[in-house]
Amino acid sequence: MTFVIRGLASAGFLVALGLPALAQTEVKIGYALAPDSHYGVAAAKLEEVVTAETGDDFEFNHFPSSGLGGEREVIEGLQLGTIEATIVSSGTLANFVPDTGVFDIPFLFRDLGHARAVLDGEIGQEILAKFDDVGLHGLAWGEQGFRHITNNRNAIHTPADVEGLKIRTMENPVHLAAFNAMGAAPTPMAWPEVISSLQQGVIDGQENPLSVIVSVKLDEVQEYLTLSGHVYSPAMLLVSKPFWEGLTDEQKAAFEKGATEAVAAMRAYVDDVETTGVETLKERGMKVNELSADEKSEFQSSITSAYEEYYKTYNKALVDSIVNFE
Ligand code: PAF
Repeated sequence: MTFVIRGLASAGFLVALGLPALAQTEVKIGYALAPDSHYGVAAAKLEEVVTAETGDDFEFNHFPSSGLGGEREVIEGLQLGTIEATIVSSGTLANFVPDTGVFDIPFLFRDLGHARAVLDGEIGQEILAKFDDVGLHGLAWGEQGFRHITNNRNAIHTPADVEGLKIRTMENPVHLAAFNAMGAAPTPMAWPEVISSLQQGVIDGQENPLSVIVSVKLDEVQEYLTLSGHVYSPAMLLVSKPFWEGLTDEQKAAFEKGATEAVAAMRAYVDDVETTGVETLKERGMKVNELSADEKSEFQSSITSAYEEYYKTYNKALVDSIVNFE
């Protein structure tokens, strides 16, 4: 019979004492993308570091490509204690900790460096700590990059080009408000339904960073890519609170170290795909255009009404302090 025991001495230590080895604690880690994506790379690094630090305390079982369901379902599994760990986008996080939605506001961050500094700084860390109040424990902020629009209807240069566009958004009210304000016809949808909905023409398009567009091969189901960079897409390494509370201090430190290195690996992947991704997608046949500075400010102006909504939910002083963060 196998017992799963948390927070006890490592199996190697028990064997050395002549005692029977305890079974390892299973860490089911679920994520929406493939093992060779930025999520897969980060999950592998987390396992590598935790294993190096703790010996055989933990057995990691990976469930890539939404193998445990959509991101919301997986987070709920963490709360219940049926899943130990995940790497998720900020898509549904605001449904658990509403304050995270502030990072989903379009045109908030200038570039990756700006976003990383805010997330790693006091503002990001305060919000991360709030996950402990909802049955979760945030290990670290990761990232996906800036989101861009893909679709099968037309190239996009101005808000008029997205008029009535059936675009899938994440289940995220901040994103939804922006696409409504632009005049598109947004449909919030869990990720596992997106590819088939694109194939069947239920939706015309979707938006995601290059890390996702390249690794999922969205070029196989989408003709146009517009480098809109309309919003930064944070990710998060999360563990279940019941799991976290069962760990020893040494094991917690190993997960923290693993998370730091996993984020470094994820950011390196994003840096790389930001440099090479557009060429890859052009070679695979996508028609790519980048919004000029003027076109981008037209999009920014088109969502003024959404910003009024955001200021009702998120303190304007907080939004301003993120925008002006140096
Ligand atoms: O678009 C989404 O839902 C997310 O960006 C994805 C692809 C699931 C990665 O977290």
